[in-house]
Amino acid sequence: MQNELFSQLQPRPDDPILGLNELFQKDERPEKVNLTVGAYLTDAGVMPLLPTVEEATKRVLARREPHAYIPMSGLPAYNEGVRRLLFGAERAPALSDRTATVQTIGGTGALYLAALFAKNVLGVKLVVVSDPTWGNHIAIFKLAGLEVATYPYYNRTLGGLRFDGMRSALSTLPANTMVLIHACCHNPTGVDLPKEAWSEVVKIVKERNLVPLLDIAYQGLGDGLDEDGYAPRLFADEGVATLVAASSSKNFALYGQRAGALHVLTRSNEEKRTVESILKSLVRSSYSNPPKFAGSVVAEVLADPELEARWRNEVDEMRERMVLMRRLFAEAGERHGVDLSFVVGQKGMFSFTGFTKEMMAELREKYAVYGVVNGRICVAGLNHGNVEYAAEAFAKVLAAR
Ligand code: LMR
Repeated sequence: MQNELFSQLQPRPDDPILGLNELFQKDERPEKVNLTVGAYLTDAGVMPLLPTVEEATKRVLARREPHAYIPMSGLPAYNEGVRRLLFGAERAPALSDRTATVQTIGGTGALYLAALFAKNVLGVKLVVVSDPTWGNHIAIFKLAGLEVATYPYYNRTLGGLRFDGMRSALSTLPANTMVLIHACCHNPTGVDLPKEAWSEVVKIVKERNLVPLLDIAYQGLGDGLDEDGYAPRLFADEGVATLVAASSSKNFALYGQRAGALHVLTRSNEEKRTVESILKSLVRSSYSNPPKFAGSVVAEVLADPELEARWRNEVDEMRERMVLMRRLFAEAGERHGVDLSFVVGQKGMFSFTGFTKEMMAELREKYAVYGVVNGRICVAGLNHGNVEYAAEAFAKVLAAR
């Protein structure tokens, strides 16, 4: 019967990251600490409105433009600005001739567009992701109809990179397999590839005709804006056909406005124009065109050298605060008799604690310290007011084992 249409449906579990963030908001315990979602908070525990973003917003609003549609590929000034940010001022002019850039609905939108392009246009069937990876990667790729498998990445026993395992796994992949690699600030482990490893990856990608997709959602929050661009710049220098999914959510603190970009490095201007036309048609049939506001704000910052210089300092401040919190968390661990020093060597917003899901549940239930079930914590949620308490909670959970 038609009325039965929805009666067989089963509810789906909450998202492992955003679901816990919602649970946190409802928790009434005053001591609660939110280390779930990858969103930067200040030392006062609030999300910042970056002063340069505020200034750019004022300028955009002062223009009193109507809310017109923007092109399917996004605002040209946004695309140009974020391409320069990604590849650096030196390479950008030459690369603009052979790089198709499309403004997307955040970094997630860039990944989904990349997946649609790979599946429907490049004929990719399989994508491999690091073990572990951001949970949503797998969901996005499956939704686009790709098969998903993993390659070794993180050594759960020793806590570092398993590059030998990664290299061997990539070296046996069939041609036209898409390989997703976190360009910096690996989510969830905070463990990045060193430069020598990137050179080997490029070599394997070329030899085996793989389709590299670099995910760069945290540029500037690892080692610095230019330093974190190392991998995309290397792929560009090596002339490798590459997809790069980038986000402006974190480094501009524009989370809810949804700005990101998909860049496709091609070999020629002709290829670039073809790829761009295909991406436009995929955008048109998915969501027609991207949101105007966030793109205008980012473009405004990046088009004004003085504003951009100030923004670069703001990004540095966010990164330096997280580095400090990593150190304070480890020192507090020492005071409470546990070794939490692994956080110090990891980069970006996340740390992988090695805690089991039972330990994460105990942290949440007994101490109101919220991290992701897989043991990931977002260090941006730590501050001078809660770092001692959070480290003590970790110590107590460890001591109880
Ligand atoms: C995260 O991993 O917490 C962020 O990328 C936010 C999200 O959408 O999951």
